Amino acid sequence: MRIASLSDYLLLRVNRDPSAQESTRIPRGARVPRVPANRQIYQLIREAILAQTLPAGLQLPSTRDLAGELGMSRNTVTYAYEQLLAEGYLESRAGAGTFVADTAPDQIPETAERHIPLTDPSGKSELSARGAMLTRQAGVSDKQWGAFMPGIPDVTQFPHKVWSRLQNKHWRRAQAEMLTYGPGAGYGPLREAIAEYLRISRSVNCNASQVMITSGIHQSLDTVVKLLGEHGDSAWVEDPCYWGTRSVLNSLGIQAVPIPVDQEGMRMRLANLRRPPRFICTTPSHQYPLGMVMSLSRRRMLLEYAAAHKVWIIEDDYDSEFRYGGRPLASLQGMDTHNRVLYMGTFSKIMFPGLRIGFLVVPEALAGAFATGLAELYRGGQVFLQATLADFMAEGHFSSHIRKMRVLYAERLQLLQQAIQRNFGDDMHITGGEAGLHLTISLPPQCDDKLICADAWKDGVIVRPLSTYYMTPKTARCGLLLGYASVPNEMIRPAFDKLAQIIRNAAID
Ligand SMILES: Cc1ncc(COP(=O)(O)O)c(C=O)c1O
Repeated sequence: MRIASLSDYLLLRVNRDPSAQESTRIPRGARVPRVPANRQIYQLIREAILAQTLPAGLQLPSTRDLAGELGMSRNTVTYAYEQLLAEGYLESRAGAGTFVADTAPDQIPETAERHIPLTDPSGKSELSARGAMLTRQAGVSDKQWGAFMPGIPDVTQFPHKVWSRLQNKHWRRAQAEMLTYGPGAGYGPLREAIAEYLRISRSVNCNASQVMITSGIHQSLDTVVKLLGEHGDSAWVEDPCYWGTRSVLNSLGIQAVPIPVDQEGMRMRLANLRRPPRFICTTPSHQYPLGMVMSLSRRRMLLEYAAAHKVWIIEDDYDSEFRYGGRPLASLQGMDTHNRVLYMGTFSKIMFPGLRIGFLVVPEALAGAFATGLAELYRGGQVFLQATLADFMAEGHFSSHIRKMRVLYAERLQLLQQAIQRNFGDDMHITGGEAGLHLTISLPPQCDDKLICADAWKDGVIVRPLSTYYMTPKTARCGLLLGYASVPNEMIRPAFDKLAQIIRNAAID
């Protein structure tokens, strides 16, 4: 481009009235964001430099001349030039004027072998072996709300006005400690509140120094494995189990060894017991996803085995607050006399999953190392959220929210059980209906639970296929996980009726 034509080029493109230029594409009445003229000049010159329409070394007209030709104020052009100078697109030479800088990419030195990555449209071939495995086996759902998404509480019932009052209090003060990086183990008063809550309601044996605040169970597990495990170690996991447990372990190079579950929880074979793992991952209070409670004798056996073989037990106590029949069972950690249990809990189910706050209770001797490790790995923050939560607990809102939700979820569980009964009588086997936020129904073996889920999804009903939670295909049971906690009472029956029709159709096929 010749210098003389720079002003023509800009004059043609600078849009002084956006609604006029865009009128063919933008509906009448729609708001058109107005880009200031100085910004437009900057963008147009930058584009021309990148396209080499304005080649390196070319001298630009003075701001006075260009502003004159464009009929604009000199400030407008000066702004654009200064921005381009600051970003390195232009350079000014003392006494000579303003020139287009050389912005061609630096040459990459020739190496003996240049690795040209394969690209495929899906991007899959770019993934590491770990990344490929993680995405291939992904269990996470695209939808996190709607009937019958398992594991989701009714977030619409959360007392958000109370929460915002408490949070505003911290924002009004906006103290530096609230806004800077958080301490590795989390906000002290929240750790105190959690320790007290766990001691009383879950019989967890701990003081505040052992409580680490994390962003949830995924991060707690990730931290435990990173700090206590080596690449290549093994972990016993319940089969079936929560997909997240498998994914975190696999991503850290830990071999997950499936241990079947029966009515009493994990059932180890002799062959398993002969090869102690580094970790045992378990959900003793409410097996995920089948819902049984680990028996006392199995608990004692696991604890003794862990002590004898220096194995770490990782207890996932994700939803024990919601028990609708019988007394809640104490945690496994509370029975441990050898400090072999790491206890993980979450606020995702009690409060709301988007809060992303969980906690990890570690043996006292490990507390310092975990606090440092957490800070070193994740550089924690969100202290004002943690402070709000501490106040929420201290003022009693936490316990009353749990009490309120327990009543509501018990009602919804009953409505779902009635809907199942109405459609299938006693033919449908239900497990896990005594606690938590979901239950599991068994399907006849000829049914493909994945197909049923896909059909239900098309009809706007979210259910998860039980078979995909198993690691051993031979023993995988066919069934569906149904979350009821987040489904409004009046929607439970119609949503289940829709699902029942899909199940009937699948059974006939
Ligand atoms: C057994 C189990 N553990 C952990 C989690 C996730 O917990 P968080 O949200 O704290 O990562 C879930 C979520 O559904 C779960 O079912």
